[in-house]
Amino acid sequence: MTIESVKPETPPAVEPREPPRAGGGVPVLGHGWKLARDPLAFMARLRDHGDVVRLKIGPKTVYAVTTPALTGALALSNDFIIAGPLWESLEGLLGKEGVATANGPRHRRQRRTIQPAFRLDAIPAYGPIMEEEAHALTERWKPGETIDCTSESFRVAVRIAARCLLRGAYMDERAERLCVALATVFRGMYRRMVVPLGPLYNLPLPANREFNRALADLHLLVDEIVAERRASGQKPDDLLTALLEATDENGDPIGEQEIHDQVVAILTPGSETIASTIMWLLHMLAEHPEHGDRVRDEVQAVTGGRPVAFADVRGLRHTNNVVVESMRLSPAVWILTRRAVRDTELGGYRIPSGADIIYSPYAIQRDPKSYERNLEFDPDRWLPDRVKDVPKHAMSPFSVGNRKCPSDHFSMAQLTLVTAALATRYRFEQVPGSKDATRVGITLRPHDLRVRPVPR
Ligand code: HEM
Repeated sequence: MTIESVKPETPPAVEPREPPRAGGGVPVLGHGWKLARDPLAFMARLRDHGDVVRLKIGPKTVYAVTTPALTGALALSNDFIIAGPLWESLEGLLGKEGVATANGPRHRRQRRTIQPAFRLDAIPAYGPIMEEEAHALTERWKPGETIDCTSESFRVAVRIAARCLLRGAYMDERAERLCVALATVFRGMYRRMVVPLGPLYNLPLPANREFNRALADLHLLVDEIVAERRASGQKPDDLLTALLEATDENGDPIGEQEIHDQVVAILTPGSETIASTIMWLLHMLAEHPEHGDRVRDEVQAVTGGRPVAFADVRGLRHTNNVVVESMRLSPAVWILTRRAVRDTELGGYRIPSGADIIYSPYAIQRDPKSYERNLEFDPDRWLPDRVKDVPKHAMSPFSVGNRKCPSDHFSMAQLTLVTAALATRYRFEQVPGSKDATRVGITLRPHDLRVRPVPR
């Protein structure tokens, strides 16, 4: 035996393969019609075709990633950036200079500016506002009346984001206007993204006029908030101060447009995602009263009967698991996109430079390959001895990598507190006429959930 013969052989370089094409496309529209008709079912079935699959959407080839491991690899890789049709339509409406759509050095600088406001050690300062808003929500409701969950959830989400991050007494009236503007803008924005009728949206139709008014009011409100803060001369320790004092790569103050777009880029995802999640939590409490009871019992054990406070959140393990399980089955953010910036590969599949890639946290989080009894609402699957069975990246509702949501701690704290406050005070029943089917928009939420609070 020669020395050469025992040398480990270098494995031959494996050429990345072409991803398989998903079945079911039709001439001209490709898979677009299925994606438009029933996007959730379509995305949930794609894993049967492969780990990475090619879709034809109109004339365009789009790559869908279907396994938890590869969605993690995608989010963590520098070969992919935030871009694509979804982002382009968002930029057109909300502004081009905010953190959610920036890439490269500008994005890194913007993340450094906003991150301190969301750090774990910054969250307790928001505690009193979160507490006040969570209790005010339940106190607004009269036993037996019908609650419009869409507007109530939006209201509390916007108020918490605006009052915590853009502090100031003046926020009260502004928060109300923000709620109205954001709810209308989100409704119209999704329509413009999925049905790109271009100039038809400029026609003076009532729906277009309402949308344009709401969008203009949103931008005006943000300008007013910034101007008023400047005029006050005050510099509270909050996100708005951080934005006003931020400097660019050259050490110069950032421009007015960037300040404006940053506020919009933080308020918009901050309200729509939280509002949708609260709607699903209300739905869960109505559909699974036994879990509402368990949450109430846990809260009582921790608080001894006094109103739940922010400081209690860390002790509310089951309540936290209820929130996580609700987010697993009904994730606010159900689709994410990236664009390849160079020829690259993912899981051994070739992805050409410029390709658009999509994946669905909804499909990943409901996948029977990752979750036993995948469609069952089971908060105990998040107990320490069971959570280890969940594959990595099979539950990343805030994503991972450099685009990870900055607000994971901020969001979980308020969602846990709101759920605790709701379940302690009431049981909930859906009322006749409530429409709880899933409405697919920029986020997922029930169509028109209406519940009746029944005092405990
Ligand atoms: C980004 C989810 C709440 C601000 C993201 C991303 C996800 C996400 C998945 C990453 C998008 C991507 O990878 O393309 C959620 C969920 C929330 C939530 C599930 C609540 C249930 C919030 C709140 C705020 C916020 C409350 C602000 C107050 C942002 C911002 C980004 C972002 C600014 C862009 C980050 C960047 O691109 O660097 N969010 N989010 N989110 N989120 Fe959230």
